[in-house]
Amino acid sequence: MPNTIVIFGASGDLTSRKLIPALYGLYRKKRLPERTRIVGFARTPFSHDQWRAKLSDTTAEFAGKEFDAESWKRFAGSIYYHAGDIGHGDDFAALAKMLAEVERGETVTRLYYLATAPQFYEPAVEHLGASGLADQSRGIRRVVIEKPFGTDLATAQHLNEAVHRVFPERQVYRIDHYLGKETVQNVLVLRFANTIFEPVWNRNYIDNVQITVAEEVDVSRRGAYYDTAGVMRDMFQNHLLQLLMITAMEAPVRYQADPVRDEKVKVLQAIRPPSPEDVASDTLRGQYKAYRGSQGVPADSQTATYAVVKLGIENWRWQGVPFYLRSGKAMSCRTTQIVIQFRQPPHMMFQVDGKSQPVGNRLVIQVQPAEGIQLHFQTKVPDQGMKLRLTDLDFNYQKEFAGTMPEAYQRLLLDALAGDASLFTRADEVELAWGIIDPILAAWRETGKPKIEQYEPGFWGPEIATPWMEAQGRQWFDSCPVLG
Ligand code: BG6
Repeated sequence: MPNTIVIFGASGDLTSRKLIPALYGLYRKKRLPERTRIVGFARTPFSHDQWRAKLSDTTAEFAGKEFDAESWKRFAGSIYYHAGDIGHGDDFAALAKMLAEVERGETVTRLYYLATAPQFYEPAVEHLGASGLADQSRGIRRVVIEKPFGTDLATAQHLNEAVHRVFPERQVYRIDHYLGKETVQNVLVLRFANTIFEPVWNRNYIDNVQITVAEEVDVSRRGAYYDTAGVMRDMFQNHLLQLLMITAMEAPVRYQADPVRDEKVKVLQAIRPPSPEDVASDTLRGQYKAYRGSQGVPADSQTATYAVVKLGIENWRWQGVPFYLRSGKAMSCRTTQIVIQFRQPPHMMFQVDGKSQPVGNRLVIQVQPAEGIQLHFQTKVPDQGMKLRLTDLDFNYQKEFAGTMPEAYQRLLLDALAGDASLFTRADEVELAWGIIDPILAAWRETGKPKIEQYEPGFWGPEIATPWMEAQGRQWFDSCPVLG
């Protein structure tokens, strides 16, 4: 069956940086279903050819060596443009007419991809409904919605209601691009396609879990957006909580959208929304020096660009195991890691100079950029008595699988076309996630605790993070990946 992907927000960054390069990449690999059309919708007036020419330049830039003019030319033949304003119902009626013409009345699966600024999600959906574009008598109609989905629980609920007035949940695909990453999906494979990890994946063996998404970049020119979001809305509500769910969920009965999402949702249900006292003791927040000097950021901004949140999952598997979630801009390096810190051996008989050397095993899942997994374990150092050292078994994607990692959007776009929502966020999931984040933001705002710490760019966030962790009897695993 032919497909049409209608991109709203076609002249925006996301379209040129991610969506079109991803679709072109799929086309080159012959993975894009044949007879897939792309229709851009935005206010800027372009002819089809003008838009194709603009995308040719940006795709050449963002696809790099994957780009070749010959295949682009063939691919560009199925790209169209329609100028219109999301706020104007008439423009949707005109779009409907244009789509009927290019599709020549055939039965076609359509994806409406909302790559616009978030305030346009609701009017876009409303107009899609009112203009008959959600009608399924000539093929399936799905809507793909980018993040952020709401700015708190109330706005997310409101948006869910608005979306559901037009599209039932099974036609709604909320994007979190972290779920499109190969290494994130591989956590499920590691856990549920092997027998040796799952028996130790619980409170009996695991002391704590550290999930870090560190970025070396600062907010750069995104200051105006970032200051309204901060690290909590930008990274925690979505990406960090997704990584937590994937790490902590039970095995779904089947690898299908609803069984997978049911298990993820249960993880969020098992997290008690933190009280203001919990927030004071179990979170840290920081702002890198110079943030307030960024374009679009008020001089007295209280927005956190770094945070740590300690969460407990109250169920049989995880009771008592802290999950430390941490993310920040202007950090030491770019790394996304999930560290499973196992307990120390119950009794250590190997001693050097009368001291034992208890260190627990560690499984480090490198989500990016040095994709791989390392298992750290104690080894006897040769010729030095019973001295031990932590060594590792190292699995590295680059070494094991030739070729580069595909962009997360490739997988997500293909799944949305195929109607597989396993890697998309469900309505209840997004609302539960806000239910955890809202109380943190409220407590920060209302109690001022913990205080916001300034930190030097280029390190691991505020200095206080180290003694804070030590006071819990633990240490951060701060390590920058070695890029080969
Ligand atoms: C986005 C955030 O969702 O994720 C950005 O808005 C952040 O601030 C980005 O830089 C990180 O994504 P990735 O895939 O580069 O880790």
